[in-house]
Amino acid sequence: MSNGHVTILGIESTCDETGAAVVVDGHDVRSNVVATQIELHAKYRGVVPEIASRAHIENVLPVVREALESAACGFADLNAIAVAHRPGLIGSLLIGVTAAKSLAWSLEKPLIGVDHVHAHLYSVVLESNLAPEFPALGLVVSGGHTALYDVQSWTDVTLIGSTIDDAVGEAYDKVAAILGLGYPGGPVIDKLAQQGDPIAVNFPRSLLGRESLDFSFSGLKTAVLYHVRGVPGRVRQPDDAPAKLEDICAAFQAACVDTIVKKLGRGVARVGARSVIIGGGVSANRGLRDALKSFDVPVHFPPLRYCTDNAAMSAGLAHVYFRERAFSGLDLDAVTYSQFRR
Ligand code: KG4
Ligand code: ZN
Repeated sequence: MSNGHVTILGIESTCDETGAAVVVDGHDVRSNVVATQIELHAKYRGVVPEIASRAHIENVLPVVREALESAACGFADLNAIAVAHRPGLIGSLLIGVTAAKSLAWSLEKPLIGVDHVHAHLYSVVLESNLAPEFPALGLVVSGGHTALYDVQSWTDVTLIGSTIDDAVGEAYDKVAAILGLGYPGGPVIDKLAQQGDPIAVNFPRSLLGRESLDFSFSGLKTAVLYHVRGVPGRVRQPDDAPAKLEDICAAFQAACVDTIVKKLGRGVARVGARSVIIGGGVSANRGLRDALKSFDVPVHFPPLRYCTDNAAMSAGLAHVYFRERAFSGLDLDAVTYSQFRR
């Protein structure tokens, strides 16, 4: 620690982004480097785990070096090494965890393993140094997760609802594939949706009963498929043509956003939440941000660059653990599932 400040190097390799970041005092992001693998996976319209782990091996050390250089930070300036060690693709996780352990061991610095989903929630603190009103309702919406959390504090987080099938980002990616829009689907559908009519098609909103905090998006995805290609076994009528692309995107996005906003309302009531914290790739979505501009309690989104996978959010969250001296041992495991399960 120099001048009372804590400098942490974070490493991210849970899925298809290799990231490294230097964050001071849990919010001051000195560097945030992300080597994206989008091009490698685009032709498969989704992430291929084996390709992802090979790319992490190639990228991890150059990314760490770049993060240190652009933060004008040497190894000696670091107080700890943080790594997202769960949940994720096992082969991918192992690369980041091994790199972090090797650095921590050779530099004789503490190692801090953090939960990637928990770090997505913490991303609202980056740069703003926001202190959200607790208890908060947490929502993580990404390609792999759609889940609600009761957040009593940064170290007291309980899962209270999650998707029973597809994650919302996964639904965006699959609908983009159906519409021939490429991977990842979220940004392009979001953009086209701005030019479309959200009531052009009435896609289903799956709420799973009156009380449920769980989500389901696979019915919506199938509804888009049938709208575009026709219902199997049924002859398409001439007046039954699919809506134009922008309208399909807008109507699909409206169904996703309506469902999420409804569940947030239920979650706030259940938790007695004084604020809502949202993270994950889909938290970049304009439709969702616009819909929550006036909500019952304050809603906090991360800056756009911290919505998708990055290492800054892990280095930031690790600061909370550092203050509590909650360090990990060199036996830290890569784990495919989240700590926050029911
Ligand atoms: O958090 P993230 O980088 O990775 C996971 O942990 O899954 O999220 C990636 C997901 C992809 O499914 C992508 O299509 C979606 O986030 N996404 C969006 C937007 N930007 C990214 N979805 C909707 N609207 C967006 N603007
Ligand atoms: Zn993620």
